[in-house]
Parts: sequence; C-alpha cells; structure tokens
Amino acid sequence: MAYETLIVETRGAVGLITLNRPQALNALNSTVLKELLQAYEAFQDDDAVGAMVLTGSERAFAAGADIKEMQPLGYVDVYSRDLMSGWDDVAKVRKPVIAAVSGFALGGGCELAMMCDLIIASETAKFGQPEITLGVIPGMGGTQRLTRAVGRYKAMDLILTGRMMDAAEAERAGLVSRVVAPERLMDEALEAAAKIASLSRPSVLMAKEAVNRALETTLDEGLRFERRLFHSLFSTEDQKEGMTAFIEKRKPTFKNR
Ligand code: HXC
Repeated sequence: MAYETLIVETRGAVGLITLNRPQALNALNSTVLKELLQAYEAFQDDDAVGAMVLTGSERAFAAGADIKEMQPLGYVDVYSRDLMSGWDDVAKVRKPVIAAVSGFALGGGCELAMMCDLIIASETAKFGQPEITLGVIPGMGGTQRLTRAVGRYKAMDLILTGRMMDAAEAERAGLVSRVVAPERLMDEALEAAAKIASLSRPSVLMAKEAVNRALETTLDEGLRFERRLFHSLFSTEDQKEGMTAFIEKRKPTFKNR
C-alpha cells in the first residue's frame, strides 16, 4: 500500500507510522486522516503486530490540523461534513499506540498525541492548543482529553491563552508518560512498544479497554468492568502459561490465546 502522507513500516512485532508532510510541519489534512485510518486498520488486522508507534519528524510531531485546508470553509461546509468527526475513529484503535513526540505537537497534533495510549516525548517537545489564536477552539478532542489528562486549571491555561508548554511541564502536568533525550526518543518508544507486543495479546487489549473505561464511567461500574475482564482472562491458555512460568522460574511463551 502506497501512502502519500505517511511512512508505514514494521519493526519486528511493532507497526511504525511516521507522519510525512515535512513542508507543512505534518499538518493534519484529510489525506492524513484517511491514510492513518488505513494504516491503523492494516496493523489492527495483522496478527504479527502487537503494538504501534506513531511519530513525526524531529521538528514537528504535527503542528495542528491543516489551517490552509480549513481557512476557506464556512459553517455549512464543516457542519454538513461533520469536520473532524473522522478522528474519533483514530482514537478507537484497539491495539496500543505509543506517540513518540519530538518538536511541535500543537492543536490537532497535541490532540492526535492524546488519542494514543502512551506519550513519550523528547526534551524538545512542545505541546499546546493554540486554536484560540485562530479564532476557533480545539475540534479534535482537546477540550475534553486535555482536561481529563491535566485537570481543569492547566487545561484552561493552555486552551484560553494558546501558549505552548515544554516537555518537562507536560510531564509534571501528567500529559506525558516519559521524557527522554532527543537521541533516545525512537529507541525508547520502539522498546516500549516491543515490550507490549511481547505480552499476551488478550490481556494487553483488555488492559487498554479497562483503563479507557475509567474515563467514561463511575468507580463502581469501572471496578465491575475491570473485574469481569480480569475473570475472563482465566479462560486463556496464556494465563496458565504466565502463572506457571512464574512458578517454574522461567520466561513465559505466550500464544495470544
Ligand atoms: C497548515 C502549517 C501549519 C498548519 C505550519 N504550517 N503549521 N500549514 N496548517 N497547522 C506550515 C507553514 O504555513 C509553513 O508553510 C510551514 O508549515 C513551516 O511553518 P513556519 O510557520 O514557517 O515554521 P516556524 O516559523 O518554525 O513556526 C512553527 C509553528 C508555526 C510555531 C509551529 O508554524 C505555527 O504556529 N503553526 C500553526 C500552529 C497552530 O495554530 N496549530 C493549530 C491549528 S488548528 P509555508 O508554505 O508558509 O512555508 C487545529 C485544530 C482545529 O489544529 C480544530 C478546530 C476545528
């Protein structure tokens, strides 16, 4: 499959997707959305792939939705085509995705990183929701996911002023999973993804589903949901293998069943 705006490859059991619109600092246009959904679907369907890494360039993870594509549109255009709604499907991919962020992650770029499950940032990363400076507001989940990630007061600061925060501040705020030196970024992300891909697939998928459930429901319902998934994993061969391997002091060999 040939992609115009992405580089898509595999590294062992990890699917690696690189945003590739350097002339526009990886601004997210409708082609990027279409291709990202195709790449996710291909990796989702590929049993050899257990996790994904999504990255950009050294200078920019992505500098936002494509302002040049949006500039001429009117209300009826964006309402009729429900602009940005396709990104909800990007956030729904079931295999874990790690965002490896270097440089600018602004607007839709920050929102795309927040659709991923881990955010590993280079010390050079800069996060922000500058839409307010364009006369609009975040439209790909920023007001919702950023608020859940960093709390109301930090989210208001970023969304109302449009300022950027560096990787250290983003880590303190809880937006970033790990900050690493620029030269370590891709190794760190690929190693974390390889680790996840080496684990039992059903437990990985259920762990992701259960953590995400925490953002959608009450504690009582969330605990019940977790427990039911936890119970269901005792139907897998991998649960027997994982626990037996521990007792026998050896590494488990998971079959993803
Ligand atoms: C389209 C973009 C772009 C974007 C950068 N470019 N960001 N094109 N959409 N979001 C293009 C520039 O036009 C320029 O192309 C080239 O990329 C390089 O950018 P420069 O501005 O020359 O680089 P620099 O001076 O280093 O500044 C980098 C930057 C700045 C600080 C990241 O580009 C910037 O502020 N970008 C916009 C950030 C932003 O506002 N994002 C939010 C978008 S709205 P040319 O051809 O001129 O050389 C959004 C959500 C919308 O994401 C949802 C509401 C519906």
